[in-house]
Amino acid sequence: MVSDFAIGIHDLSFSTTEFVLPHAILADHNGTEINKYHVGLGQRSMSVPAADEDIVTMGATAAEPIIARHGTDHVRTVVFATESSIDQAKSAGVYVHSLLGLPSATRVVELKQACYGATAALQFALGLVRRDPVQRVLVIASDISRYDLDSPGEATQGAAAVAMLVGSDPALLRLEEPSGLFTADVMDFWRPNYRDAALVDGQESVSAYLRAVRGTWGDYTDQGGRPLDEFAAFCYHQPYAKMAYKAHRHLLEHCGHPTGEAEVARAVGRTTAYSAVIGNSYTASVYLGLAALLDEADDMTGRPIGFMSYGSGSVAEFFGGTLAPGYREHLRTTAHRGVLDRRQPVDYATYRELYERSFPADGGDHPTPPQTTGPFRLAGLRGHQRVYERRAPVSARSSAEAGDLRRLPHEGHRPAPATS
Ligand code: HMG
Repeated sequence: MVSDFAIGIHDLSFSTTEFVLPHAILADHNGTEINKYHVGLGQRSMSVPAADEDIVTMGATAAEPIIARHGTDHVRTVVFATESSIDQAKSAGVYVHSLLGLPSATRVVELKQACYGATAALQFALGLVRRDPVQRVLVIASDISRYDLDSPGEATQGAAAVAMLVGSDPALLRLEEPSGLFTADVMDFWRPNYRDAALVDGQESVSAYLRAVRGTWGDYTDQGGRPLDEFAAFCYHQPYAKMAYKAHRHLLEHCGHPTGEAEVARAVGRTTAYSAVIGNSYTASVYLGLAALLDEADDMTGRPIGFMSYGSGSVAEFFGGTLAPGYREHLRTTAHRGVLDRRQPVDYATYRELYERSFPADGGDHPTPPQTTGPFRLAGLRGHQRVYERRAPVSARSSAEAGDLRRLPHEGHRPAPATS
């Protein structure tokens, strides 16, 4: 069924972390030939959260500019997709709701299915807007990806949040029906409740992802989807940038299309610009791919874009969307590039120190060192409760505080900058 009015992404904004670890530093530490990272994985650097950043601060930071531009009118639902949840009961979205001052007449919920969660959120949002076209849904995808130190997955870590406002008559992307769906029970990547870092069967995860590419495409075609050659570009889930190339080559091969390097790069190259320097952002990754495409490409008005969302375990979905007339006037390209430029490079020891941080589970008062320069921070853990705060703008801080910030890095606060 095709609706008689367009529903889709009205606005999109992303955030990432305060710090960044260049892959050259990781390669130096573990003796890996740097081209394995730069060429083999297609990764240049990975976002590293400060001690006072988490999925809530990133999610609120991504969503704040959307609320600033559009207000809260008609936003009656917030769906927070994540697989790096901070609580087994309370939705991370409720903290964001509070930090952003959203109205009490809002439903807020957290969704999980590995990296696929944000696509489920988008599809659920579509249903809500179809039921009442005046309503808008705030979808937030926020994740910190963590693997064991010195494991093959370590080089694919990263962190980011993407916020999307979903509504009728969208300014950016009109989502299309049908969707191609695929679920298969596979243990390619998972994280038991007692672990902070994911467990992964790396090679199996790549095969499972490629099986899902074929599976979703087969169902998409059966459901009457567009032929492959109508799509101008493809946003794949990007656990590392090269996976998008691998996946698209696989789809072309599966469909009997030419698989030349230029062909593949034309379809996915621009979508990898952000994830190549951020790393795996799990739920946010496909939509970070969309942000990169919109910010990097020339005018694509009316052109269909294909989306392939994969979440280990595994659930996947292929769907299409077309870019709305005038979409370029609504992009946040300068802000997005600024989010990347403002990150501070760290050295290996600092990355490791941040990686190894955890809160004691004794219910005590555990403040975090002030490190982030973003608008929100996790101030600490007190009586088993996470305490968040909005950082005052620099102009509103006392001169002593402002001086403190200018003096950074300094002992006990800001990690040392990278030396290479
Ligand atoms: P690995 O064993 O470190 O690396 O595992 P490799 O030996 O497979 O090499 C990787 C690529 O680098 C290969 O290219 C090598 O040839 C190349 P490919 O065969 O892939 O085309 N290479 C070089 N190239 C140039 N110069 C060199 C050089 N050396 C090697 N000197 C793996 C890689 C991705 C498996 C590992 O990093 C890992 O386990 N990552 C985590 C899991 C993952 O990202 N899986 C991806 C699919 S599953 C998924 O996307 C879902 C996920 O996001 C989770 C979720 O859904 O929640 C992970």
